[in-house]
Amino acid sequence: MRLYVGSDHAGFALKEQVREHLEQEGHEVVDVGTHSEDSVDYPDFARQVGEAVAAGDAEYGILVCGSGLGMAIAANKVDGVRAVQVMDTEMAKMSRMHNDANVVTLAGRYTEPATADAIVDTFLATAFEGGRHQNRVDKITAIEHEG
Ligand code: RB5
Repeated sequence: MRLYVGSDHAGFALKEQVREHLEQEGHEVVDVGTHSEDSVDYPDFARQVGEAVAAGDAEYGILVCGSGLGMAIAANKVDGVRAVQVMDTEMAKMSRMHNDANVVTLAGRYTEPATADAIVDTFLATAFEGGRHQNRVDKITAIEHEG
């Protein structure tokens, strides 16, 4: 898959680790940064990854900040993005099956590397169920377009 990843300084170490994990699995990964632990603003990276996913340049996006929360809030401002902050594999699975999430955000300060890898692997491997859930996702999209 073609994926975009991004982080702020607080998510940098976990983003690096997840990117390497995804590359080892054979994914094509575009890393928009950040590239060090110098302080930066997470919305700048959420926007780049969100816009790439919304434009169809990436199948999915992965964003990491300290908590994953700011990244989710910012990425969800991009029309077409359904970003979810995920702390375990069960929620990763549900976010794909029911919500057709296209961006997953991780907590660099609270999530262990092995857990992050498992979350991302589950997220990428799980299909949207469609059916009744499609109608609900369509209603989310309608809110975006009415705004
Ligand atoms: C940075 O200190 C921190 O606020 C940021 O990484 C993130 O957790 C925000 O939601």
